[in-house]
Amino acid sequence: MLGSDIARQLLKAGDRVVAITRDRARAAALASAGAEVRVADLTDTASLRAACPGADVVVAAAHALLGRGRYRSERVDDEGHRALIDAARAEGVRRFVYTSVLGASPDHPVDFWRTKHGVEQSLKASGLSWTILRPAAFMERHAHEPATILGRGDRPMNFVAVRDVARVAVHAVREPSAAGRTLEIGGPENLTQDEVAALCGRSHGYGTCRSARARERLAAR
Ligand SMILES: NC(=O)c1ccc[n+]([C@@H]2O[C@H](COP(=O)([O-])OP(=O)(O)OC[C@H]3O[C@@H](n4cnc5c(N)ncnc54)[C@H](OP(=O)(O)O)[C@@H]3O)[C@@H](O)[C@H]2O)c1
Repeated sequence: MLGSDIARQLLKAGDRVVAITRDRARAAALASAGAEVRVADLTDTASLRAACPGADVVVAAAHALLGRGRYRSERVDDEGHRALIDAARAEGVRRFVYTSVLGASPDHPVDFWRTKHGVEQSLKASGLSWTILRPAAFMERHAHEPATILGRGDRPMNFVAVRDVARVAVHAVREPSAAGRTLEIGGPENLTQDEVAALCGRSHGYGTCRSARARERLAAR
């Protein structure tokens, strides 16, 4: 989601874009839009070295939050991203824009958030010029139908549109003043997943909200 949007916005702005994917076919639309496509895999260090030459900036927008086996999060999100930082430095890349996550910290209860924080630290220590993006949950991934509610659905969280995160990423690529900055990117309002489901249902003219508390909060808006 995010990587494609960033690529499209950069192409529109006239930049040369290389889209990196494990499967060339998945990048067919970006190739049609003008991107050069290179195949690489975060679990294959040599392929990362081969993907970087000629790049001025690397924008990392991959993850394997629910990955398994070879593609388990530890290998992709942790080792893979550290290897990408090393490859970028070795290939003379000037700037590295890393997509972390809002709330990344060394003592976060969820390991994915701790991993993101650890990679942030590696990037800062790498000697590369860096920008870190810390977006909230992507609206498009969490607010759609059919809605999947993970957990009780009654905890407010922040949502942001992918296009807005991509805009900030493009700024990070193009603006020298973004170097050395961690940019937290959120939407205007915190909502519970129950509220999101109710809003989606309402906008489609159907659906009920199973949570009385969510109904009250929405009615008060
Ligand atoms: N989604 C959210 O709510 C959210 C919130 C905050 C931060 N973020 C962060 O934002 C970034 C983008 O998230 P997204 O939701 O846009 O991701 P996405 O749509 O799920 O895309 C993830 C991409 O990661 C690539 N990838 C996975 N494993 C790989 C590997 N081993 N080697 C190379 N590429 C690999 C995949 O590329 P191919 O399949 O083409 O190889 C895929 O296109 C991630 O860093 C994520 O942690 C996401």
